[in-house]
Amino acid sequence: MKKIKTSAPGKLMLFGEHAVVYDYPCIVTSISPRVYVEIEGIKERSRIEAPQVKNTQFVERSIDIFNKKYHLSDNLLIRTYSDFSSQYGFGSSSAITVATIYALSKYYKVELTNKEIFELGFKVVKQVQGVGSGFDIAAAIYGGTLYFVTGGKVIEPLSIDKLPLIIGYSGIKADTSNLIKNLKADFNIFDNIKKIVESAKLNLVKGELEKTGELMSQNHMYLQQLGVSTKKLDNMCLAAISSGAYGAKLSGAGGGDCMIALAPLDKMKSVESAIINMGGEIIDVNNNSQGVKLENI
Ligand code: PMV
Repeated sequence: MKKIKTSAPGKLMLFGEHAVVYDYPCIVTSISPRVYVEIEGIKERSRIEAPQVKNTQFVERSIDIFNKKYHLSDNLLIRTYSDFSSQYGFGSSSAITVATIYALSKYYKVELTNKEIFELGFKVVKQVQGVGSGFDIAAAIYGGTLYFVTGGKVIEPLSIDKLPLIIGYSGIKADTSNLIKNLKADFNIFDNIKKIVESAKLNLVKGELEKTGELMSQNHMYLQQLGVSTKKLDNMCLAAISSGAYGAKLSGAGGGDCMIALAPLDKMKSVESAIINMGGEIIDVNNNSQGVKLENI
């Protein structure tokens, strides 16, 4: 029987979280750990084997939405696995959604553009999660680093080098849906975040790391004002800066998950130690990874 395997990358939000839910831009980068989806036609009833995933709804909804749109209904065995824990907030749900839709399109030989994959994937996220800008779906599809506006109104790949990023996990899983739902929208803060995003876009493309780091720290300050940071994330960011990072911020919804720091190469080790001293766990990943793709079987 026919078998297809695909993979899609996780993501890290570099700038603009929360504001991007309200029609503002953000900058997201894809990362080296990936999720994998394997699809095989079978005789018996369809089933999903996803040992690392607590919630298989993203896979189920992806299949439903795809099958309804293209009037397809083969019996399939779908297996998923992941290079990374879903605890980190690296976007495993969106990467699984994208890898599933892409695998289905290859299995059934339905040609889809990136934008069409995005529309299907974003629909899945809205149905399962109810809220979200779709930035993580875009990162899983396009890969690299993207300037992104809510709902995919703009998806602009940025031509930048890999960044000297340090990622510190706070040890706490963020509840993204509730953080988004409970956020008191402050459009003055969002306007300031937008200025940071626009400036970061220019500085990233020019390779101005020092300035980009400063913008990260400013973005973190506005996230503090929005009330989504935690003492631990603040401490990890401060420690990173004190030990030589250009700047640091929380990444994603806040309330836990990870912080990111940008540092000169000769300071990477001391920044890592400072984050560990604050109780953080260093996660070793690269950014700017390739978007969704077919894997050899
Ligand atoms: O918690 P994460 O890493 O999924 O990031 C959420 C980012 C938000 O801007 C708060 C929500 C969104 O969908 O854009």
